[in-house]
Amino acid sequence: MDELSLLRNEIDELDRKLVEVLEKRMYVVMNIMKAKKRMGIPVMNQDRECEVITKISSYVQNQRFRNEIQFIQKKVMESSRRIQSEQLFPYHIVLVGFMGTGKSTVAREIGEMVGKHSIDIDQFIEEQEAARISDIFQLQGENTFREIEKKVIKKITSQLETTVISTGGGVVLNEENIRNLKQTGVVIWLKASPEEIYQRIKESTERPLLKEDMSVNKIASLLQQRIPFYGKAADFIVETDEKSVKEICLEIVKKLGSVQHDRRY
Ligand code: S3P
Repeated sequence: MDELSLLRNEIDELDRKLVEVLEKRMYVVMNIMKAKKRMGIPVMNQDRECEVITKISSYVQNQRFRNEIQFIQKKVMESSRRIQSEQLFPYHIVLVGFMGTGKSTVAREIGEMVGKHSIDIDQFIEEQEAARISDIFQLQGENTFREIEKKVIKKITSQLETTVISTGGGVVLNEENIRNLKQTGVVIWLKASPEEIYQRIKESTERPLLKEDMSVNKIASLLQQRIPFYGKAADFIVETDEKSVKEICLEIVKKLGSVQHDRRY
């Protein structure tokens, strides 16, 4: 055998061992999760992850490989979070609420925390239609936008992979959307006061429904009309006024821990 073939054989054997070790690690991850659940200990622990990364670095013999190994280890831990979260939260995590309540930011952060991809429905629509939401409203009208929104909700909620979904503020106005979201996910209503919402979005030019009148009064009256719809959609509520994104996410993950949901397609 030539030198290259010998080296390739060696790599094959190392890969086989890697797979064996990774698979064993994944079983342990699942058992850790079950033990934590039994003991009532929170499953996501960022301090523990930092500790593991530091420990791993101290095992590396050739410092040249340190960054690479840290990179791989972070991926391994990301996958652990996904394995755990698929067991713990085998459904979409859906955020609804008025414009400016932080749905997109919170969805991204929760996705990171629980190892799920996050999808922003408005962003998805903008990419699919190659147009900004404000232009779709202006050129094609709100009804067309709502039709597109309904199809996108149907498509995303029927995907096998469970995700964190941040929806546009008006998604709940449609019964079919609520049905699709609730059947496949746990729906969380992010709430904020009209004053707080105004402070967050007053400079935005991307809110077609507030284009003519960006004011606390207009926000308050639109919000008032929508409260029954958010209420109907939501499995639980999280107040966001005066809370950091991190605090909101931790509250959501904690509350999800006591929710039962049988995902139906
Ligand atoms: C809408 C909210 C927007 C966007 C569209 C309509 C609404 O999303 O979907 O402008 O009806 O409240 P955000 O809630 O993300 O701003």
